[in-house]
Amino acid sequence: MVSTHPTGVQNSGSKYLPQTSNQNTNLSPNQQILPITARINSRDSLEIGGCDVTTLVQQFGSPLYILDEDTLRTASKQYQESFKRYYKGESQVLYASKAWSCLAVCAIVASVGLGIDVVSGGELYTAQTAGVNPDKIYFHGNNKSREELNLAIQSGCTIVVDNWYELHTLVEIAGNKPIRIMLRLTPGIECHTHEYIRTGHLDSKFGFDPNDLDDLFAFVSKQSVLDCVGLHAHIGSQIFERQPHRDLAAVMVQWLSKASGYGLPVRELNVGGGLGIQYIESDDPPSIEEWVKPICEVIEEACAAANLPLPKLLCEPGRSLIGTACVTAYTIGSSKVIPEIRTYITVDGGMADNPRPITYQSVYRAVVGNRMSEPLTETVTIAGKHCESGDILIKNAQLPKTKPGDILIVMATGAYNYSMSSNYNRLPRPAAVVVVNGEANLILQREAYQDLIKQDCLPQRLIQK
Ligand code: LLP
Repeated sequence: MVSTHPTGVQNSGSKYLPQTSNQNTNLSPNQQILPITARINSRDSLEIGGCDVTTLVQQFGSPLYILDEDTLRTASKQYQESFKRYYKGESQVLYASKAWSCLAVCAIVASVGLGIDVVSGGELYTAQTAGVNPDKIYFHGNNKSREELNLAIQSGCTIVVDNWYELHTLVEIAGNKPIRIMLRLTPGIECHTHEYIRTGHLDSKFGFDPNDLDDLFAFVSKQSVLDCVGLHAHIGSQIFERQPHRDLAAVMVQWLSKASGYGLPVRELNVGGGLGIQYIESDDPPSIEEWVKPICEVIEEACAAANLPLPKLLCEPGRSLIGTACVTAYTIGSSKVIPEIRTYITVDGGMADNPRPITYQSVYRAVVGNRMSEPLTETVTIAGKHCESGDILIKNAQLPKTKPGDILIVMATGAYNYSMSSNYNRLPRPAAVVVVNGEANLILQREAYQDLIKQDCLPQRLIQK
């Protein structure tokens, strides 16, 4: 919905509101910048999950991550339903918890039936503590420590083995009980995304080289302590193209066929994650269904042609499940007008709670949460409060006229914001709440100054007398 003010100037927030029932409702949550429950209330404030964002800030403080449970659940269900609709075999959707790992998020996705992909002892611990069944936990990583491998073995999760070193270590530390593993392979598929988040090209630090396949399958087939249940690949993140995942599915069935030649009982294929989301209006990712369907079709056709039984099909999205389910609320403070050059407006957070703009030049959109219908009359640059000139959240944002105390809402901050946050400049990390049906629950406490020095040690000789 794009609405225009009587002056001809576009309104503030309404253009980002999710599609309403009389419009196209086939959009997936990953195709709309705001959470699916977003609306403007009678106070002209943004409401998410039935909660007014300005009230949430009064109650829980600022900055605040606001996570919409309905959006996360809806995206999770769309993945599951798409697999049920388009795939004749068994399937399992995993949530890539690197996008946002905390107890509540793991518990929400697990309650819908999703499994969890973890990449460290810390993520494994979080998923287990949230009560996720180890049968549905898959442990990735290109340099798992012995300690992590032991934790993984004890937990009973599936280990996605990345390289020869890890494979030999597992054989060495395994007990009598076979360890459930999958093998991660590099498919050699290029996709167009930021160079730091591409993983499937041959020059990638992840996975076994496909030229090693024969040696790999021959080795694994001889290890009675390894129960190799499947193959895994992931080609990158924030991908809008449809062809790379089709190509990946086809390549993976070729690998499957080769593995069966070595007598390996490989029965699972994990095609990774990577579906992109809408951060700005021009982003046009496929829907969840449009992403799942061709993968299923290619795998079914290729298996039929190769006379292979259908494997259990897994995928592990992160961003497209949680990215647009969250917004970050900040409070506007100081501003600086540099005539003829630019106006800076500063918020009470920045690169520590959202390192993506400074890391990947990621572009975000913002609205003023307490003036949703005011006309967009200003072009401003939104800066964070960190001691670094590059700490800019959004360049040239179109906003209504703001004043200190207004609530700035940066949208689509659910994926890789909290999980990559830091305490740079010793800023405490923000709190996070989950909202649903007008109720808000704290899921991450705001860090206090005491938390910042919790791990500090002051040697006796340095204590000031
Ligand atoms: N599986 C594997 C093996 C992965 O490496 C990743 C992401 C995923 C699944 C989930 O991908 P997604 O569905 O979220 O695209 N920090 C970067 C993103 C790094 C992605 C790393 N791997 C960012 O903020 O854009």
